[in-house]
Amino acid sequence: MASTTPQQFALLLLVVALPAAMSACAGEHFPPGRTYVTCQDLPYLGAALHWTYNASDPSMSLAFVAAPAAPGGWVAWGINPTGSGMVGSQALVALVGDASSSNSSSAPAVRTYNITGYSPLGKASTPIAFQSTGLAADAGSGGKIRLYATLQLDKGMKKVVNHVWQVGSSVTRGAPDMHAMDPENLASKGKFVLSDGATASPPAPAGDTSGSGDGSGDASSTRPPLSRPISRAADTARVSAPALVVLALLGVMTMSRW
Ligand SMILES: *[C@@H]1O[C@H](CO)[C@@H](O)[C@H](O)[C@H]1NC(C)=O
Ligand SMILES: *[C@@H]1O[C@H](CO)[C@@H](O)[C@H](O)[C@H]1NC(C)=O
Ligand SMILES: *[C@@H]1O[C@H](CO)[C@@H](O)[C@H](O)[C@H]1NC(C)=O
Repeated sequence: MASTTPQQFALLLLVVALPAAMSACAGEHFPPGRTYVTCQDLPYLGAALHWTYNASDPSMSLAFVAAPAAPGGWVAWGINPTGSGMVGSQALVALVGDASSSNSSSAPAVRTYNITGYSPLGKASTPIAFQSTGLAADAGSGGKIRLYATLQLDKGMKKVVNHVWQVGSSVTRGAPDMHAMDPENLASKGKFVLSDGATASPPAPAGDTSGSGDGSGDASSTRPPLSRPISRAADTARVSAPALVVLALLGVMTMSRW
């Protein structure tokens, strides 16, 4: 491991660049006006989280993308400020099928729920710890639902945040029905990092290089060990080619130090 051959370097570049092609993050095209600095492909249920963190508020503008377990179902995402599982999470839920509504072509309803236990959720929002604005949802490609929101976060909040996500197959009288208990449903929780990439570069058309220096520096210093491959795959979708090479070089240097 003392030195890296050109072949190893090429392989590393390939390994770094390849996942971007298959990433749900990279494939998402939001309506005009909805852009996010960071995206993470979540490891279960085919979900992805896109967000922009503004440290001076602090706030988080986000889009959670997932397909309900069945066409008339629901998708949910939430921060858990007090633990790592479902109970305690401050959830946003987008409900597609609503048996109480005769209008199936209308946009999914979005509600907030303070998840206090395992009992069924009602048809009305409950207050959550974070002030939420801009609650909306629309239909993405492949049966996916895109849930949008801006959350006002706590000033003292840790940068590494526990979150959970879920999908369900049905909605009854306006309330989300219980989700499946398959391994993926039970495993769908993790962490993400509130990184300050937002200040480096507003999302810009292709060819922009002005922001990439700041952006990649920020990202690498705050990237958590757990989500490194995921974040890197997501990053490659938006960083310029020179930044990609820098990322790869950093990888080689790290490897040869070991
Ligand atoms: C971040 O929030 C501050 C305070 O609300 C605001 O002035 C600023 O414009 C925001 N930054 C971005 C990039 O939206
Ligand atoms: C259903 O909702 C859509 C969008 O909100 C609206 O344009 C349409 O008129 C509604 N249709 C009925 C039958 O209410
Ligand atoms: C959420 O529920 C817990 C447990 O009942 C409660 O302590 C907390 O105050 C609730 N949060 C909000 C924002 O209402």
